[in-house]
This record gives sequence, C-alpha cells and structure tokens, in this order.
Amino acid sequence: MTILGFAALSSYKSLTLRIQNDMLCRRAKSAQSMTRAIIIDTDPSVDDAVAILLALGSPAELELLAITTVAGNAPLALTTRNALKTLELAGRVDIPVYAGAAGPLSGALRTAEHVHGDSGLDGYDLPEPSVRAAPGFAPDKIVELVMARPPGDVTLCAIAPLTNIALALASAPELASRLREIAIFGGARREGGNITPAAEFNLFVDPDAAHQVLSSGANVTLIPLDCSHRALTSTPRLDALRAIGTGVAEALFHLLTFNKGFHERRHGSDGAPLHDPLTVAYLLKPELFSGRRIAVAVERDSPLTRGMSVMDWWGVTPSAPNALVLTDVDADAYFALLFERIAALG
Ligand code: BDR
Ligand code: CA
Repeated sequence: MTILGFAALSSYKSLTLRIQNDMLCRRAKSAQSMTRAIIIDTDPSVDDAVAILLALGSPAELELLAITTVAGNAPLALTTRNALKTLELAGRVDIPVYAGAAGPLSGALRTAEHVHGDSGLDGYDLPEPSVRAAPGFAPDKIVELVMARPPGDVTLCAIAPLTNIALALASAPELASRLREIAIFGGARREGGNITPAAEFNLFVDPDAAHQVLSSGANVTLIPLDCSHRALTSTPRLDALRAIGTGVAEALFHLLTFNKGFHERRHGSDGAPLHDPLTVAYLLKPELFSGRRIAVAVERDSPLTRGMSVMDWWGVTPSAPNALVLTDVDADAYFALLFERIAALG
C-alpha cells in the first residue's frame, strides 16, 4: 500500500468513526427527547403526500406544527391544493397550510407533471379540501413558528425545492442556529440525476436556494437519491399497503400505482422510488440509515450540471462538513414502518 493509500485509509477510518459517534449521539438524543416539533415544507405529488401521512401517523414522536408549500412538482396553487387534499384525506384539517414561493429565487420554474400528472397528484380522486390555506407567506410563518418555540426545538422537514427555507433564512439568519435540524430530501451522490443527467429535481429547481441552506450553518441532514433508489414501490409492497384495508391505504395504493406506471414505462423497474417519506422515517428511526458528515456544494452556474450536488465523500478538500449525508437505508424496514403508521391513521 502506498503512503497515499495509508493516508486515505486513516482519513476514511476517522470519518467513519465520526459518523458512528454522530449516529450514537443522535440515537441517545432521540431516546431522551419527547415529541419532536416539525414543519413540513413540500410540493405535493404523491411521495410528499405519503411523507405528510407518515408524520400524521406518528403522533407519539412527531408534532406537525404546519405545512408550508412551494412551487416544484406543480405550480404553487396546485401544490397547496394537494397539501390541503392530503390533510382532508387524513381528517386533519386542523393543521395549517401556508403557501409560499411561486418560483425559484432566480430563473423559470421547472415542474414535473410528466411524472405526477397535470394535477401533481394524479391517480385517485382525493376529497376536495373543505378549508383553504391559512393567511400568511410560508417563509414568514416558518420564522414566526420557529422563533415562538425554545431554541433547538423545531425541525424542518424539507421535501421540495428549498426556496421557502432560503427565504426564511435570508430574512432571519438566526434561524439557522435556532432550528434543531433541517432534514432535506435532495441531491445524489452516486446515482446521477433524475431530472438531468447530473441533478436531482429538488436541487435542480432552485440551486441558489439549496446553496444558501447548505451554507447557512444549520444542522443539515441530506437524504439523496442513493437512498430512495433502493426503496421502490414494488408490486408486493403495494399489495401489502392495499391489504391494510383503510380508506387512506386504498387512496395511496391508487396514487402510488399511477406513479409506479411512469417508472415502469421509462425504466422497466417494478416500482418507483419513494423519495420524500425517507426524511420523516429518518426522524422516526435514524438507525435505519447510514452515511457520513461531509462537505456538500451545489453547482449553480454550469448549464450542463446545474443543481448537481458535489459531495466530498473522501474529505479531499479543506471544506468543513456542512451536512450529514445518508446514502443507505434498510428499505424493508422503511416500508414496514410506513405501513404500520399508515394503518394507525385508521
Ligand atoms: C424529489 O422530486 C420530487 O418530484 C419528489 O417529490 C421529491 O421531493 C425527488 O427528486
Ligand atoms: Ca417533493
């Protein structure tokens, strides 16, 4: 082995140890703490809806303070409506929905109707919302809600382009240290992109916002495509979901079957990646995941690689780690957790 080889090995070992310590601290902390207060920032589509329902099915661990919506999978009016429909399905219209940014910090909005249908949530007629979005601009509401709670109390679960979170941090930079954590679905390490060859959708839609969030100093956990591409909605899994036998499970079965069809036609896979609920599953059971605390940067200039997450996995730059990046998940345990909590919704 060369001297360089020894150096790389020792750097690898120390990174691995750091991660193990980090995970142990997190587990100890989560065992101590009571219910974790969360805000879900989202652009529903079906995987966002499942993430919301997973949180609602976990009241012993998670208190959902609010849902904030942003343009992404579909324009803002539709993502807001889809969030309201999801709450209606769960009978939880007591949770406020605040609409936020209608487009990225700069440039035109890119949406994903080709994946999710024109409504952003095609495949099943969910009940019409009986309530409207609450008054107020989502980024302002995020600041207000977080500042009203003790320091280190609120976790942001960010499962959409990061525009709202960046705007909130820009108006109140102290938010970064006030938050317990920002758990983000976004980016990719070894999987390449799902909207361009280089970029994952959420980071691609608003790379400037992603850069601002990643450089804010907040305690960021990033769950990239590397995890969700191991967690597919296969036929046996969707059959198990339907067998739960509740109205919520039946609706999700149809919505996920629609989504699965796109991936089957395009990739020939049995099932679609179930991206966003991974962030909520991580808050509930971090032990299902593994990863490393590393430096992550987002490409903002190159037209070819816009939105690409550049991950210093091997610590080859002097950049300080700014995110815990989770690249593996126990997929069977993830779906078991999800179905248990969907069943609990009744
Ligand atoms: C992400 O993009 C959206 O289409 C999904 O809801 C998820 O947040 C996956 O790249
Ligand atoms: Ca999403």
